[in-house]
Amino acid sequence: MRRDTRTTVVAGNWKMNMTPSQTTLLINEMKTALPENPACKVVLCVPFVDIAAAVEAVKGSVIEIGAENVHFESKGAYTGEISASMLVECGVKYVIVGHSERRQYFAETDETVNLRAKAALEAGLTAIICVGETLTEREQGVTAETVARQTKIALMGVSEEMLKNVIIAYEPVWAIGTGRTATAEQANEVCGIIRDVVKALYGEKAAEAITVQYGGSMNAKNAKELLSKTNVDGGLIGGASLKAPDFAEIVKASDQ
Ligand code: 13P
Repeated sequence: MRRDTRTTVVAGNWKMNMTPSQTTLLINEMKTALPENPACKVVLCVPFVDIAAAVEAVKGSVIEIGAENVHFESKGAYTGEISASMLVECGVKYVIVGHSERRQYFAETDETVNLRAKAALEAGLTAIICVGETLTEREQGVTAETVARQTKIALMGVSEEMLKNVIIAYEPVWAIGTGRTATAEQANEVCGIIRDVVKALYGEKAAEAITVQYGGSMNAKNAKELLSKTNVDGGLIGGASLKAPDFAEIVKASDQ
């Protein structure tokens, strides 16, 4: 991590877990487990129906709340969808865009990721844009091309000013929920490739300032090593963000 030029962000992604009452209990546990003055920003991205409980529960703590998806239209006949302004009014500050599970199971494409990212940014949310290669793509040697393409298309039409509210999360699909973490070197290498793409598009200063997270089976044990790498500015945590002590350990590991 380079904390002199950029912000470290440790964010949980609860995915489709936790009811509102469970949300209150888990956040109360987290508030006790987390350090008082963490070296990173702490975010929990929760299911839509848990947002109200989460926003209430984090009051007086360092935790900020994010959503897990957002629709790109501002309103209208899109049954089941949620707009950026709805999220803002509920107290949401961050939103995950283009998670690989959405790309894989819900037909999300690079183009819709771009539309969602722009809608989020225009509403003043911080967009956590996820990119990452599948196992086949890694084995075929096209990891760099894949993440570069995903990053470039996600950022189409995003101004340098808007980029200040962008976080890119490198999440190799083969490492998500599998217990198979990328090595710290692999994570650092690909986060560096993403930073190079940002440099080519926006210049050196923007590339040095952008937060690039790693996600994929990050846990209390491996966080310290992953977060020690210069290009890894935090984590997007799935399973381990559902356990207060484990999530707190990851937050503590950002202090290096
Ligand atoms: P796991 O930490 O459960 O592997 O999930 C990572 C992830 O998808 C975060 O968005």
